[in-house]
Amino acid sequence: MAAAGTETPRVLVTRKMMPDVERRIAATFRVTLNPDDRPMTRDEILRLAAAHDGLLLTSFDKLGPEFIPSLPPSIRIIATHSVGYDHLSIPQAEAKGIAVTNTPGVLTDATADIALLLMLGAARGASWGDRMVREDRWGETTLVSPMGLDVSGQRLGILGMGRIGQAVARRARAFGMAIHYHARRPVAAEDARGAAYHARFADMLPNIDFLSVNCASTPETRGMVNAEALALLPKGAIVVNTARGDIVEDDALIAALASGHLAAAGLDVFKGEPRIDPRYRGLDNVFLLPHIGSATPRTRSAMGHKCIDNLEQFFRGERPADLITRA
Ligand code: DGY
Repeated sequence: MAAAGTETPRVLVTRKMMPDVERRIAATFRVTLNPDDRPMTRDEILRLAAAHDGLLLTSFDKLGPEFIPSLPPSIRIIATHSVGYDHLSIPQAEAKGIAVTNTPGVLTDATADIALLLMLGAARGASWGDRMVREDRWGETTLVSPMGLDVSGQRLGILGMGRIGQAVARRARAFGMAIHYHARRPVAAEDARGAAYHARFADMLPNIDFLSVNCASTPETRGMVNAEALALLPKGAIVVNTARGDIVEDDALIAALASGHLAAAGLDVFKGEPRIDPRYRGLDNVFLLPHIGSATPRTRSAMGHKCIDNLEQFFRGERPADLITRA
């Protein structure tokens, strides 16, 4: 595609994408793909960026705090293949006049499905049950052990009632769960659908059996699920996280799981992933996944196409639909 009066823009794609996405981006821009999917270092991305006008990168790229200030002047837009953009500094991008776009909406259902999987898996012992079968320990099961906890009919507290939080609530209602939520402000009544709003996070916690973390990672939410918050949950509560690892304090969560204050946790995201706190591996009451909230072909393809839509709009001189930076 040629931007108004210029040559076809050059786009660097840092990770392997779904085949239909790669075909479309290769047909639209002058593109550098990563067919071997070798994770690139920050310095490699910066070096390659000099020959490109735009970047299509992911939240899996390890960019570091000085990434945007170090970008060459050729880069005018970053399309991140993720709804979360905590791996990019928006103020730094704005200061450099670089547009940033994300992929909201298309991964809502897939991520909410994983939140339910985590709730069910953590509560009903999916990982220890799976291990028992693989290790041929079925004979250890009795009528009273091992046992999980009920999900149906329990109280769910959602931290962050955006698209994904609301989609988690919709699914949880099918399990007869009572829905509570905390967010900066209440959502519209048609979106809350009867969920109880708690203006203070601390006020929600004693009233729930499950806590699902569904907010963005921001300076305000980082470390929000800390020892003080976990202590307010009833004994035997379960915590699941499909948002970002740094919203939860690992020391506090691990201590609460080890002491039995929390019955279990289900985690798809971790601070510092993929190098997770090794103590999680030694806990039997955790159900762990490798950040696969959006990992279905349909969702990953839709995310890729959204990135291309945004890049096309930008290079045509239009405002991209998912622009995060101030225009
Ligand atoms: C997102 O889109 O933010 C997912 O967590 C994948 O990074």
